[in-house]
Amino acid sequence: MRTTVQLQGSPDAPIVNKNIYGHFAEHLGKCIYEGIWVGEDSGIPNTRGIRNDVVSALKELNIPVLRWPGGCFADEYHWKDGIGPRKERPAMINTHWGGVVENNHFGTHEFFDLCEQLGTAPYVCGNVGSGTPQEMMEWVEYITAPHQSPMADLRRKNGRDEPWHLPFFGVGNESWGCGGNMRPEYYADEYRRFNTFVKSYGGKHVYRIACGANSRDLNWTKVLMDRARDHMNGLSLHNYTLLNKSWPPSGSSTDFDESEWISILEAASAMDGLIAEHSKIMDQVDPDRKVGLIVDEWGTWYPADPGTNPGFLRQQNSLRDALVAAIHFHIFHRHADRVVMANIAQTVNVLQAMILTDGPKMLRTPTYWVFHMFQHHQGGQVVPVQVETQTYAFENHQVPMVSASATVRDDQTHLDLSLANLDPQREASVEVTFDRDVVPVGGRLLTAPDMRAHNTFDNPEAVIPREFAEHQLAGRHLKLTLPSKSVVMLHFGTS
Ligand code: AHR
Repeated sequence: MRTTVQLQGSPDAPIVNKNIYGHFAEHLGKCIYEGIWVGEDSGIPNTRGIRNDVVSALKELNIPVLRWPGGCFADEYHWKDGIGPRKERPAMINTHWGGVVENNHFGTHEFFDLCEQLGTAPYVCGNVGSGTPQEMMEWVEYITAPHQSPMADLRRKNGRDEPWHLPFFGVGNESWGCGGNMRPEYYADEYRRFNTFVKSYGGKHVYRIACGANSRDLNWTKVLMDRARDHMNGLSLHNYTLLNKSWPPSGSSTDFDESEWISILEAASAMDGLIAEHSKIMDQVDPDRKVGLIVDEWGTWYPADPGTNPGFLRQQNSLRDALVAAIHFHIFHRHADRVVMANIAQTVNVLQAMILTDGPKMLRTPTYWVFHMFQHHQGGQVVPVQVETQTYAFENHQVPMVSASATVRDDQTHLDLSLANLDPQREASVEVTFDRDVVPVGGRLLTAPDMRAHNTFDNPEAVIPREFAEHQLAGRHLKLTLPSKSVVMLHFGTS
């Protein structure tokens, strides 16, 4: 059976907020320390302590927004411990992640330096669980106050004259769990209280994000929307891709069979229904969609790779993870009228990472390459697609075989079409019908002979994209064959 993809543009179609391609970096395992921060005295080439190789690789992704410092770490982080001369900063225990000692060498100044080096917007998550409204208020003042003030003066004393721009601020993380084990009614009140003290200085609005639900907890979304919607700009949602959709994580990042392959892709595809369910609840009290849904933690979560610290959540990343990323982006595009930001967990060395490091060595994962290929969708206008495809089924699992998404950009002069074939055995014959005249201007394909293929420090290019032009265009009809287990991005000029 042939898969058909029909494009039908609409002037009312939403814009894919570029922040859907956002990231998350926590003080967890080797994400910040070693993965990003090596210190000024390191033999690893760095700029003011931040690894040059990692920054240069990440810059290629045009990361629009970066969430920090957690995660669970955010609700035990006291920002004043992370400013001033590094040698004098007090240490703490990172209780959630391996119980290791955190020396606070990477703090506010270092994070904003990282954002400036990457050209990315900062999204800071504040401490509700073990902090105070005053501590939160002073942090925002420290970061953003332009005039003379106690916190702005302290910032200047620590070497930063100009305020930084803080476009996004999260009021707590997973307050239903590691952030305080709160009930939604209690958190809704705490949110309203803490948020009152998050001030906007210098006429620059801080977009406030309330802690949202854990996966299917629709009641959390309902209570927050009922009780606090007028005080928030965004409400978050966390959902990890788990084998058999069940916690705790099981399986392996690289040692899996077809049953585990499809189970993970089925779990990733479930994000569609999940967003629809939460959106429906939000629509009841917010039909104009003023409150954005912020999926600020998503991605695969497997047991940590053998031989690594289980508390560091270090996992390899295979072609399967690349398919997971493509599926998620297609879903986020489909819900672009509600989902305005998403942050993959996490950028370096943790969970579904873009980059893995080992001392001075660094590699780009298959997930990195999907972000690389799909960046053209950032800020584009959705061109709705109708996909008719067969089902790919294995054992008791099933998913649509082909997933697709299209956007237009640059005053509608360019159209980008991405496709994914989830079947690891069969290629897919695809016929695309465009709603306008197009001229192919390039394409890339990501696949590998084995579904478990991944990049290692010995073979860092086992899974990398290659040019793809194996398609035939006749009028507004395009025919192509998607190899099994592949992701394709095609670019067109339009007239
Ligand atoms: O990303 C790892 C952890 O997952 C985060 O710290 C927490 O918010 C979530 O449970």
